[in-house]
Amino acid sequence: MTTLSGRRIILGVTGGIAAYKAVEICRRLVDAGAHVTPVLTAGALKMVGEATFSALASEPARTSLFNDPSSPIPHTVMGQNADLVLVAPATARVISDIRTGRSADLLTATILATRAPLMICPAMHTEMWEQVSVQENLEVLRGRGVHVVDPESGRLAGGDFGFGRLAEPASIVAAVESLLAPNDLGGQNDLAGRRVLVTAGGTREPIDAVRFVGNRSSGRQGHALARNAAQRGAEVVLITTNAAGAPGGVRIVDVSTAEEMHRACTAEAPEADVVVMAAAVADFRPHRAVDRKLKKDEGILSVEFEPTADILAFLGAAKPDGQVLVGFAAETDNVESNAAAKLDRKNLDIIVANDVSKPGVGFEHETNEVVVLRADGVRQHLPLCSKGEVARVVLDAAVETLNRLDNSQEQA
Ligand code: CTP
Repeated sequence: MTTLSGRRIILGVTGGIAAYKAVEICRRLVDAGAHVTPVLTAGALKMVGEATFSALASEPARTSLFNDPSSPIPHTVMGQNADLVLVAPATARVISDIRTGRSADLLTATILATRAPLMICPAMHTEMWEQVSVQENLEVLRGRGVHVVDPESGRLAGGDFGFGRLAEPASIVAAVESLLAPNDLGGQNDLAGRRVLVTAGGTREPIDAVRFVGNRSSGRQGHALARNAAQRGAEVVLITTNAAGAPGGVRIVDVSTAEEMHRACTAEAPEADVVVMAAAVADFRPHRAVDRKLKKDEGILSVEFEPTADILAFLGAAKPDGQVLVGFAAETDNVESNAAAKLDRKNLDIIVANDVSKPGVGFEHETNEVVVLRADGVRQHLPLCSKGEVARVVLDAAVETLNRLDNSQEQA
């Protein structure tokens, strides 16, 4: 069986130059077993041919609400039958229409007429991508659970170079597979009915109105954990300092400082079955932040630091029965013994230790190498691999611990 067999995907193509890459996406989805219905906007038709998609997809390409002799209401029929609506490329125009709920053509009408998940793959020039309006639209859509496959850096139309190029077709198809495939493969729904809280990103501690003390954390590991938990059926809340790149289908709480993260965790953690503290929380913050911009001519700046609260230790001390608490330990020396001491000190069930002095590990990387230590003594080493793979293994350990705690509560 192929990964997407039997899945019905509406492939929306809009009028960006990257529309030619949607041909490759269409072919790959069909090869993976999906039933693909292409819907081309008027803009897309200026870039690519309807016949190309009709030849490669599972059924003829559609281009209008009104020229289908077999159905007077194609958008509702397609919308009701879809497992996913994928828009690639997604122009700034269609992103704005989706945000406002505007029905401007067959594609946007279908998006309004479906309950299926929506995945959009923006592609546009860097200047357009950076517009506050575009970023604000994307933030709102992410908050509503829309899956956004971020663009990449590279060659753009007109010989320009920069951020905004459509993600590679293989990456887009992989994102579709990871969204649709797990249940299809008869697999993991092992967090269904569970609540999972994940924290992600580095906190920013203000010095004055414009400056802060921060760290190198990108939030990728936490976002991968939230994505994996959602794929396994959990209701997920993600407390993050960096909502860009956060997965769809999770509730996002935006925070910036350690204190804000502490408040959000205190509010959310009591209800959670699993708490994963993947954020890089500052251990110190400027004692007194100045609420205006400090000027150069004010002389030598000396900043006094005070410790922040250790959120994980608080959560460990207040841990309800049956909750699984997972911490991270970024170390450079005596990695395992330091991590084991933290596991004990903070009353954790699991700690994920990484040696951040190694190449490709931890902050600012797509990859990670970790040792997962459990309070019951089980130890698992994961060689350098993707942060998605680390997320899967960590949540496997969390599920096992959760089930063990459930069993021992039942026996008690
Ligand atoms: N952590 C936290 N609150 C803090 C600092 C850290 O909740 N103020 C959490 C992190 O999210 C991580 C774990 O504690 O899950 C370990 O963080 P780390 O910085 O490695 O360790 P520390 O406890 O700060 O100890 P040390 O600085 O001695 O290594």
